[in-house]
Amino acid sequence: MSKERFLVTGANGQIGTVLVTTLQQRFGHDQVLATDIKAPIIKEGLFEPLDVLNKKQIGDMVRKYKITHLFHLAAILSASGEQNPKLAWEVNMNGFFNVLDVARELDLRVFFPSSIAVFGSKSQKKETPQHLSTYPETVYGISKVAGEYWSLYYHQKFGVDVRSVRYPGIISYQSLPGGGTTDYAVDIFHSAVKGEAYTCFLKENTRLPMMYMPDAIRATLAVMDAPSDAISVRTSYNLGGMNFTPLELAEEIQKQMPGFSISYQPDFRQEIADTWTESIDDSQAQLDWNWKAEYDISSMTKDMLKNLSEQYERSNKSAEMG
Ligand code: NAD
Ligand code: SER
Repeated sequence: MSKERFLVTGANGQIGTVLVTTLQQRFGHDQVLATDIKAPIIKEGLFEPLDVLNKKQIGDMVRKYKITHLFHLAAILSASGEQNPKLAWEVNMNGFFNVLDVARELDLRVFFPSSIAVFGSKSQKKETPQHLSTYPETVYGISKVAGEYWSLYYHQKFGVDVRSVRYPGIISYQSLPGGGTTDYAVDIFHSAVKGEAYTCFLKENTRLPMMYMPDAIRATLAVMDAPSDAISVRTSYNLGGMNFTPLELAEEIQKQMPGFSISYQPDFRQEIADTWTESIDDSQAQLDWNWKAEYDISSMTKDMLKNLSEQYERSNKSAEMG
């Protein structure tokens, strides 16, 4: 992807902040345009304010910066979406239509992140296969299924090169999650490192598919890098990483921090989590573009605790220095 120029929507978000930094390191700051509806978080490199509901603005940015690849991350996530379903539908669907139409007009390669939220309580719970009825039960999941099929439609009818993966819950230390049902798996680490007990909003035995950020970024770049004829799935690829329950994650943290404690106060997010699958069969991604996750719960936990502890130490030191 050496001559390409990249635009990232929703660049301030949990995944966007890390994706933008990775693209900047790999291709150079001038090749990457970060955009978001909110003021920039990453201080280095190119940034423009962009509302994905404004199609003209997307087209103008693509022309101005001669963009070839667009990573469309802007969205309202599952928990926030249930609080405001119409906004979630508006941003997730109409924002994506705008991106697809600009891509069709200006010949862009597009990345569309789908989610484990496409699956519902009628879906197979374990090792959920690639080709299966999805039955989403949140407005977020419905918007992702619709997005997957619009991706296929734009590819088949208009030749738009849109590629997609169904991310599991993403865990990261660089950035905070933005209103999802899997957010506990990041919040828990912040409590642990601060020496605080954690109250989890899901029950202790709720098993969900998860992935560490470095794997998520590798998958994103791999599917975008793959030759077009290797992409046999034009809806969205299942993507597997690890899976665990809040109890198992707490026990993993306790191996390094024996004093850490967790309690459980399930809220409305439990109902969402109960409809999702527990583990994912990603053999099609393995076959088509050699996908293999590198992190498991143990290596992810070690890396999260190390990096977050260093982060908190640095910010405490700079606070002390005034
Ligand atoms: P996030 O909520 O952290 O970030 C989303 C960003 O979109 C925010 O910075 C927000 O300001 C921006 N945004 C909202 N409305 C906008 C608009 N109208 N125009 C422009 N920007 C707008 O999300 P994330 O976790 O980084 O997720 C990125 C993508 O990956 C989303 O499409 C999400 O559905 C998908 N995904 C994420 C996860 C996860 O665990 N993080 C899992 C599955 C799928
Ligand atoms: N992590 C995301 C959420 O919980 C999954 O798409 O909404």
